[in-house]
Amino acid sequence: MKQEKKWYCRKVRPTAMPQHILNDGIKIPLIGLGTYQQPRSSLMNVLFSAVEDGYRLFDTASIYDNQKIIGHFIKSVPVNRHELFITSKVWNSDHENVISSIKKSLDELQTDYLDLCLIHWPATKDGNFIRAWESLIRLREKSLIRSIGVSNFTAQQVSFLFEVTGILPAVNQIEIHLRNQQQNIILEMSELGIFVQSWSPLWTGDLTETEYSRLAGMALKHNKTITQIILRWHIENGFGVIPKTSQVGRLLENISIFDIELDLDSDDLIFLSLLNMDKKIMEYPDDYV
Ligand SMILES: NC(=O)c1ccc[n+]([C@@H]2O[C@H](COP(=O)([O-])OP(=O)(O)OC[C@H]3O[C@@H](n4cnc5c(N)ncnc54)[C@H](OP(=O)(O)O)[C@@H]3O)[C@@H](O)[C@H]2O)c1
Repeated sequence: MKQEKKWYCRKVRPTAMPQHILNDGIKIPLIGLGTYQQPRSSLMNVLFSAVEDGYRLFDTASIYDNQKIIGHFIKSVPVNRHELFITSKVWNSDHENVISSIKKSLDELQTDYLDLCLIHWPATKDGNFIRAWESLIRLREKSLIRSIGVSNFTAQQVSFLFEVTGILPAVNQIEIHLRNQQQNIILEMSELGIFVQSWSPLWTGDLTETEYSRLAGMALKHNKTITQIILRWHIENGFGVIPKTSQVGRLLENISIFDIELDLDSDDLIFLSLLNMDKKIMEYPDDYV
């Protein structure tokens, strides 16, 4: 017997989820769910819970090895495909084989198109990101991808793409968190009209006791959690975020940040900016950058 599709009560109405209009006119939700290192056994449950809580953007990559599970989710969730926003990425070793890499992603994700596809890393040593970019442009022309972008690119690398092809990325997804606030590249992306999405937005490294209690005080003041304060900091700086959680109880927490506004002139924001240490989570291998 065909199972009747359940209509979800949406806790954060997707229509209430703010969106950003990219430089190609496509709308992208400000928050999505990161899926890197999500345990495979619980991923389906997390995805269904996320949709129920109001998430529509799901961030994956061919290297995450979870596209087949996300494909089952896309096929079975009672939400129209056009309401979802699916991001995938082309891995470093596929710069010469973008078309077959995207076809595999589409196949695994059981969809006819990606909403956003990024070149995962410049990979200048082994890859040819210009050739990869030209392939993405062609795939966008064929409507297999709605928006094209990059990840972990410097401003010089983005400018080079533009010089050669005349097409700017819509998005640059980069490592941004309180310990690595990346002000220079953010300014450069903003001047070029490129939307910045923060990966690993929640990372803080080891907080000192003073730092922790100051964050806890801010959270108390706004009746929010420390995680919500951090995510709100990203949003107020104009970034998109894709926090990952494999705990369904945290999904709603991470998305419920549109009812507070941090006072941009306050000492709190100065304190947050002073947490910057220009510290990356890891030094990137040579064949990534
Ligand atoms: N483009 C790239 O090169 C690149 C690189 C890395 C990541 N990414 C993307 O960015 C996404 C996010 O980055 P990330 O996964 O590295 O880091 P993240 O989202 O900043 O942090 C994830 C960590 O925070 C915990 N967490 C989540 N919500 C929480 C909450 N409300 N309270 C307390 N802890 C919470 C998670 O634990 P639990 O799971 O136990 O909740 C997990 O340990 C990835 O999943 C991936 O999609 C892209």
